[in-house]
Amino acid sequence: MLALVEDRTRERRVERVRRDFVANVSHELKTPVGAIKLLAEAVCDAADDPVAVRRFAGRMLTESDRLSRLVQQIIELSRLQDDDPLDAPVVVAVDEVVAGAVDASAIDANAGNIKIVTGGVHGLKVFGNEEQVRAAVANLVANAVAYSGADSTVLVSTKTDEQMVEISVVDQGIGIPSGELDRIFERFYRVDPARHRSTGGTGLGLSIVKHVAATHGGEIRVWSVEGQGSTFTLTLPRAHQEVLT
Ligand SMILES: Nc1ncnc2c1ncn2[C@@H]1O[C@H](COP(=O)(O)OP(=O)(O)OP(=O)(O)O)[C@@H](O)[C@H]1O
Ligand SMILES: [Mg+2]
Repeated sequence: MLALVEDRTRERRVERVRRDFVANVSHELKTPVGAIKLLAEAVCDAADDPVAVRRFAGRMLTESDRLSRLVQQIIELSRLQDDDPLDAPVVVAVDEVVAGAVDASAIDANAGNIKIVTGGVHGLKVFGNEEQVRAAVANLVANAVAYSGADSTVLVSTKTDEQMVEISVVDQGIGIPSGELDRIFERFYRVDPARHRSTGGTGLGLSIVKHVAATHGGEIRVWSVEGQGSTFTLTLPRAHQEVLT
């Protein structure tokens, strides 16, 4: 007698994660869409009151920004969904990735009078998908800025050993309660939004970082003390000059 046993645990798990994700996405999309609808109705009703119209229109703008950010993050995340191994990894220059991430947060940092400083080892290269690595580092820097108070400093530093490159983003911001540290990498999870000035978040940034680490065979670690600051460290496989493609 021959028994054929097929292990479908992984497939089932992927399927369940996908179902939950779709349910969460639908839920998250409903909020800004509902708000825009209500605000549009309010604009119609207040047609004769220019001050009110301007106020409602301003809020519509905020909600639609939030909506487009959410859609953008969902697209990015769905590209990474299955932890697929990378198709065609290339050599990615870490300095450029870091500079791009700093640029992307420059306006927000300026607005909060937050200084972004870079340091560590220069000229490092990692092996991976450039777009994904950029998205991951940009999300970490954006968080460091979003969850820091005015007049503080964010440090992005790089170091390496033979195998791996470490990119650390250090902030002196609000920190994360120790009980929440496990959960922040979950999709849509946000520590009480009332704690911080950034209200536009979607809770997807760190799940993107986690997926990028996983697809690259790297790691994301966090150290944080509430009220003092956080350090996020992303490790990625190092590319030596020999593998230049
Ligand atoms: N550097 C940090 N300092 C303090 N809290 C942080 C930091 N980074 C992340 N967090 C907490 O973890 C939560 C999840 O972060 P994540 O980047 O996934 O989502 P988000 O920033 O809320 O939204 P977005 O999808 O726009 O990035 C945040 O809402 C915040 O509460
Ligand atoms: Mg974020």
